[in-house]
Amino acid sequence: DFIQAPVLAPSSPDTVDPADGKTVRHYTVVEKAASAQILPKAGLLTPILGYNGIFPGPTIDVYQGTKVELTVINQLPARHALGGHSLDTSTHLHGSASLPQYDGYASDITRPGFQKTYKYPNFQGARTLWYHDHGVHHTALNAYSGLAGQYHMHDANSERLLPRGKYDVALTVSDAMFAANGALGYDDNSQSGLWGDVILVNGRPWPVMRVQKRVYRFRLLNCCISRSLRPRLSTGDPLIMVATDGGLMPAAQSVREYRHAGAERYEFLVDFSKYRTGQRIELQNLSNDNNVDYDFTNKIMAFDVVDDPVDTADPSWNRIPTTLVGSEVMNLQESQATRTRRFRVKRENGTWTIDGVTWADVIASNYRKVAAEVPLGATEIWEFENGSGGWFHPMHIHLVDFKVLSRNGRAPFAYEKGPKDTVYVGENETVRLLVKFGPHQGRYMVHCHNLVHEDHDMMVQFQVGDPGD
Ligand code: C2O
Ligand code: CU
Repeated sequence: DFIQAPVLAPSSPDTVDPADGKTVRHYTVVEKAASAQILPKAGLLTPILGYNGIFPGPTIDVYQGTKVELTVINQLPARHALGGHSLDTSTHLHGSASLPQYDGYASDITRPGFQKTYKYPNFQGARTLWYHDHGVHHTALNAYSGLAGQYHMHDANSERLLPRGKYDVALTVSDAMFAANGALGYDDNSQSGLWGDVILVNGRPWPVMRVQKRVYRFRLLNCCISRSLRPRLSTGDPLIMVATDGGLMPAAQSVREYRHAGAERYEFLVDFSKYRTGQRIELQNLSNDNNVDYDFTNKIMAFDVVDDPVDTADPSWNRIPTTLVGSEVMNLQESQATRTRRFRVKRENGTWTIDGVTWADVIASNYRKVAAEVPLGATEIWEFENGSGGWFHPMHIHLVDFKVLSRNGRAPFAYEKGPKDTVYVGENETVRLLVKFGPHQGRYMVHCHNLVHEDHDMMVQFQVGDPGD
């Protein structure tokens, strides 16, 4: 019952960008209402909103250096069935250094009946990205209803070092609640979060995947609206962490369990060659502080080891690399920073704020209000301080990759020693990041990726260089 989203086929032949001679690949997805067989009972269908009517949306698979133009056609109904809001959408490719006009800016909406073509440069190294709706004030409900999908970028290093093809496996993990008729339930728990009691992997509850006795690469996207995960194998064997949000880590890290917030991507290897045929290994979910747990949210999925012959001519079948290739941001040094900024995140008068500012304030300023003006190409230290008890916040900075320098003055966790774009800021934690701003100028969002917090109204923007308006 384990499935993966289909890989999206191009919608028309490649073209060449006359500006730089690069190949441009063209894709189209249609946002629409559909029914999905999520629950195991045949015919008990769940109404969703999906890219091409499926959840998760189709996977876009590209190689570094090939540009992408993605046309998103909004054929959604006028209003959301649960929320009642109008289904204007804005598509964000999370993990891409896109130009501002293609970054899914919250107010840059496409109404039902209209479409927009987004251009993605794809100059960045191999990584797991994901695309999701970013419609202002309704991101949580729209993404929860199904508007999310993975986007994989490959490059020569990732192809050389890591398992490929069917051994390179996307895991989009989400949580949901269901009514007896199969419909999604939604309760944002006083704007603190959405806590489903069912764990879905690629849109199926607690699936079981058959695996050969070899090494697999898993790309785990936490697509939960609010919940953070703490994955661990039931055998107690380590997960070999090889990549974080922004791609390969300089060195693989072996971890028994790790903390994984919404929007973060971690890629890890699991070596199934040491298990016996018929053995079942669970991917469990230990609990983290400040989530709402239910009886079965302690499990994610399971693997059944099968006896199918392993192709040992494929060198990745048993390879566990120790040294990978760190991206540019991992070579940055703290001494290169020209400025330190601290952002206090908290709840004030019932609203989630970043240094006392909300997206409502940004709107009220006619999108002029910025939390930081950063010169193009500058390296800065950004600190997020979560002084309030009771909450964790996955803080996401658009456009950039960053390096985690420390948390409460101590070294980051082993699994965070790779390029990141979203960082876990737990209760009473202050996280220090080293960020290089570029290569584009303009205004970009920074927000909490607990999407309920984002919608209520924990989002601000920063400006790189000259916005040109
Ligand atoms: Cu994944 Cu601004 O978001
Ligand atoms: Cu938050």
